[in-house]
Amino acid sequence: MAEPADDFGAHLRKHWKLNPDIAYLNHGTVGAPPRRVLEFQRALSDQIEDNPARFLLRGLDDISGTGKPSRMRDALSHVAGFVDCSPDDLAFVDNITAGVNTVLRSFPFRPGDEIAVTTLGYGGITNAATFAARASGSNLNTIELPRPGAEPYEFVEALDRGLTPATRIVVIDHLAATTSLVMPVADMVAACHAKGVLVLVDGAHVPGNIPLDIVALGADWYTANLHKWAWAPRSCGVLWTSPAQQPHLRPLVTSWGFDNGLAAEFDHPGTRDPSPFLSAPFAIDLMREFGLDAIYTYNHELAWWAGQFLAEQWGTTFAAPKPMVGSMVTVPLPTHLGTTVADAERVRAWLEQAGIEAPALIRPDGLDVRVSAQIYCDRTDIERLGHAIDDFPTA
Ligand SMILES: Cc1ncc(COP(=O)(O)O)c(C=O)c1O
Repeated sequence: MAEPADDFGAHLRKHWKLNPDIAYLNHGTVGAPPRRVLEFQRALSDQIEDNPARFLLRGLDDISGTGKPSRMRDALSHVAGFVDCSPDDLAFVDNITAGVNTVLRSFPFRPGDEIAVTTLGYGGITNAATFAARASGSNLNTIELPRPGAEPYEFVEALDRGLTPATRIVVIDHLAATTSLVMPVADMVAACHAKGVLVLVDGAHVPGNIPLDIVALGADWYTANLHKWAWAPRSCGVLWTSPAQQPHLRPLVTSWGFDNGLAAEFDHPGTRDPSPFLSAPFAIDLMREFGLDAIYTYNHELAWWAGQFLAEQWGTTFAAPKPMVGSMVTVPLPTHLGTTVADAERVRAWLEQAGIEAPALIRPDGLDVRVSAQIYCDRTDIERLGHAIDDFPTA
């Protein structure tokens, strides 16, 4: 079943339920689990329904924190090996939005504290920070980060300059949704820690997109989605918390595990479908079967090629340095396509009718298109995108 990397490409679409007529260049937005992962999840659901009470109430988790066998903990141990951390510091959350809300709503802010976000932050996460600041009497500080083309150290310096004596927590992206740039997270964390600022990393696009070693980054919290690039079914997120920050960490939903430690508190937020979480190890193993390094390399090279090819085709500038590119690129569109949200929606709709799924994004002075490279994509998909934009009707 494993395919050699030089044989990745459109014919692998048979492993996905994706419409074969569509050039699906949007894997990053909500993910797309392979068929075998969905089949595994379906079989698991059948197993649950064989005796739901037995499955969900006895053995799924350990709500009393007594250390009895727990399927959730087994699954987390597997995931921990993939993202390089201790399973004791890891919890499943529905998605990264839940992970960020969990941290920011349980942190003991004092009035006058500051939560910092950046101009590269994802809108929903910035909203979560805004609400947490409002609810805790803190202030929100939005730090301006450089545009694509800047060197990694310039991002570190800009972040450092934006911190104030009141900043308690800064939320930074590991792989930014708008620019698709891989940030120098370890250096950013070091700069923040040097000023006593805690760091919550939004790694929404990271697991499965680039290799990840959470502990090596040195952050205080790291939250990520497995349903985007790690092929897990939706919705499946993780939240890693450094031991020092665990005493005040509480799940968004309080239930039976209350006061019994991180595992008990997070693994059972009332009755819910555990199948996405319990399917994550299978998804990770399937990636391993295809070859993790082969996937990273193929997707990175295709994304990088897409950046060069499309910018040349459209006469725009793709400024991202190669070390800051993972499996996704954001490419500037020709200026005549506009600058507004309505312009972006017109471009997206045009691509959709041309059989291409890719998001059009707005930046301050124009539009971008974001291309996700996944092993079922190849250059033909990118060329199709290039031509579709060339054919965009101008008024
Ligand atoms: C950087 C970033 N953060 C957070 C999110 C939110 O992810 P979710 O809706 O799965 O919580 C996204 C979604 O694309 C994202 O790109």
